[in-house]
Amino acid sequence: MKSFLSAALVAIVSVLLVFCGSGRQAQKGNGASVIDSSKGLKDHFANSFAIGVAVSPRALKTDEAALIRQQFNSITPENAMKMGPIHPRENEYFWRDADSIMAFAETNGIRVRGHNLCWHNQSPRWMFTNEKGDTVSSETLLQRLKEHITAVVGRYKGRIYAWDVVNEAISDRKDEYMRNSPWYRICGEQFIAKAFEYAHAADPGALLFYNDYNEIDPVKREKIYRLVKRLKDAGVPIHGVGLQAHWAINEPGDEELENTLARFSSLGLQVQITELDISVYNKEHNARERKPEDGNTDFTADKEQKQIDRYRKCFAAFHKYRKQISSVTFWNISDRASWLDNFPVRGRKDYPLLFDKNLQPKKAYWEVVETAH
Ligand code: G3I
Repeated sequence: MKSFLSAALVAIVSVLLVFCGSGRQAQKGNGASVIDSSKGLKDHFANSFAIGVAVSPRALKTDEAALIRQQFNSITPENAMKMGPIHPRENEYFWRDADSIMAFAETNGIRVRGHNLCWHNQSPRWMFTNEKGDTVSSETLLQRLKEHITAVVGRYKGRIYAWDVVNEAISDRKDEYMRNSPWYRICGEQFIAKAFEYAHAADPGALLFYNDYNEIDPVKREKIYRLVKRLKDAGVPIHGVGLQAHWAINEPGDEELENTLARFSSLGLQVQITELDISVYNKEHNARERKPEDGNTDFTADKEQKQIDRYRKCFAAFHKYRKQISSVTFWNISDRASWLDNFPVRGRKDYPLLFDKNLQPKKAYWEVVETAH
């Protein structure tokens, strides 16, 4: 009996050792390097920049919560703090979802990027119209913007370290500077500086960012740069620029990325990568109505290798600019759900993130980790 027990004990201990050992010493697959996989992305990049993720309140109640705690030290509410969801009617705020994300963050010692205070999308219709349905005056709209920002930033004063104050105000049209949004049509460009001033008054300790996408396109890049530099030079309380980085296996090119990070780093403000994901389809196929050229919607080895290469190049560039880049946030947690799924085209998935649908690290994850060391 005694020998049976000791044999059983040996067996249990060895299984435990194997399990723990493999957990601690994950091989890249080719044994080329041993990475301590007991650490998360936030630990590997602790000496470079924060690693964040966009979350929904629902995700925090699932198995994704454990992954968030292990891997990230920053979170961004994907939708809960946007104007429409949090302020659906003029005299009505909906705090539950935003509060639940804040509670999760504060319980787990995770910093929060507020997103966003002023955007042309997901803005409630009441914001721009009076009781007769007519468009409001610039004064009325600015007063409403001030009340909104004062209420939302004020509620989380001293608890949210950074805000995307204005999102995507620059036009994608080459012949247009400002996006032709209701904000711009009613108030002119001044709404941007006012939004930053309102946010700074509500929480002088918060870092305030201008956030936009297609930041690697040379024409749009220069328009974003011009806007942020003008705000800074005018003494507007702006502390950084958010580059959304919704990229793909064929962008950004090495030169595009270098030129973009160098240009925005020259502003002397913080740079943050705010919404990183890398679709496995070429940029031109990211258009929502396009199905893959070859009709193949699988996560093939070819797609995976191209994604690995792109992630590695991006993080190598982030590492080079780590003195200016203070945070890199992924937009969504894993391939289980991405905003890119919102427009399914014949079952197309873009597999844009570092964790698969089972929340396991993909090969690209290990390549990214390697760039930290
Ligand atoms: O919550 C409602 C639900 O009640 C309703 O039943 C359902 C169907 O209409 O819609 C739900 O709201 C959706 C919301 O996501 C929450 O799931 C909206 O329709 C949908 O438009 C919204 O999409 C969000 C999108 O911004 C809005 O433009 C995505 O989740 C979000 O990932 C995406 O994020 C943006 C960033 O904020 C800014 N940068 C670009 C990025 C991607 O578009």
